[in-house]
Amino acid sequence: MKAKRHFMVTQAITAGPVLEFAADVRMGLTKSGQKELPSKYLYDDVGSSLFEVISVLPEYGLTRADERLLRRHASDIVERMPSQVVVAELGSGSGKKTRYILEALCRRQHTSYHPIEISPTALAMCQRELGDIDSISIVGFEREYLDGLLEVAARRKPGQQLLVLFLGSTIGNFDRAAGTEFIREVRHILHAGDGLLMGTDLEKPIPQLLDAYDDPLGVTAAFNLNLLARINRELDGDFDLKAFEHVALFNEEARSVEMHLRSLREQSVHVGTAGLTVAFAEGETVWTESSHKYSRQEVFELAEKSGFRCDAQWLDREWAFAENLLIAE
Ligand SMILES: C[S@@+](CC[C@H](N)C(=O)[O-])C[C@H]1O[C@@H](n2cnc3c(N)ncnc32)[C@H](O)[C@@H]1O
Repeated sequence: MKAKRHFMVTQAITAGPVLEFAADVRMGLTKSGQKELPSKYLYDDVGSSLFEVISVLPEYGLTRADERLLRRHASDIVERMPSQVVVAELGSGSGKKTRYILEALCRRQHTSYHPIEISPTALAMCQRELGDIDSISIVGFEREYLDGLLEVAARRKPGQQLLVLFLGSTIGNFDRAAGTEFIREVRHILHAGDGLLMGTDLEKPIPQLLDAYDDPLGVTAAFNLNLLARINRELDGDFDLKAFEHVALFNEEARSVEMHLRSLREQSVHVGTAGLTVAFAEGETVWTESSHKYSRQEVFELAEKSGFRCDAQWLDREWAFAENLLIAE
């Protein structure tokens, strides 16, 4: 008999996510010096769908490298974890690559899987993508990473261990210090012996990196510009999308690719819900996302600084990318 399949989404009980978005936009666009917008707002319905397209672009090798490593090494990864494992995934996106880990686990045990996402569109994709696996229960959380992980941890039963997935190099969206702090906070929620499977995009030649974040079809540009379109839709903004362009640049000091939106003329923009009128000089940019690139060795140091040990690291041969299994000490 097939085990029960189950999918459900627990939504965030937050007062006024629109007001929070408005407050963040106000803060980011009125900062002295470099204007900025938090990258988490890139992922509304349109943004999450565009990200799926980015992940199949020939220039963006990252997702395919991650997928190859998960496909090849899923059994080995799962064998390194004890028998009763509950899986939580931070920022699951569509969950496509996660299938390999879940199928390997479900071959040996009924598995509870908890995608944690701020994007309801991504959670819905995850349900469609993974709901057909035998012996799985999926309960998604529409939450920020750590809030969702706390919920999953609170539901764990005696004898169960957590395997947290943080795939696709989303760790790279934090600067290095904030990334270490974030992994430390993840560790505080876990017990000794729990696992964190983390993808890291590795350093590679700058032209290759810039192509990955500025494809000739303009999908990444649309993904970035959609943040302004989202402000127009949700916060009564009047950004003229034709008056901004997508820019990808390499920050040598931070070893990160930065995405910006550059104002093509001097202009003033009004965002009604944020009660904000903001002036842009010609050429001025809004910084929207960073993707930090790691060395292999740095992952071991990051693990050690945050209360984990790196138990295993798998490398892709075609695209410099590492899958790392960290075990909580
Ligand atoms: C770069 S995508 C990666 C998706 C997927 N893990 C992959 O490897 O293809 C980051 C995902 O994290 C989600 N996300 C971003 N910030 C978040 C936050 N603070 N809390 C929860 N989810 C977040 C986004 O909605 C998006 O789906």
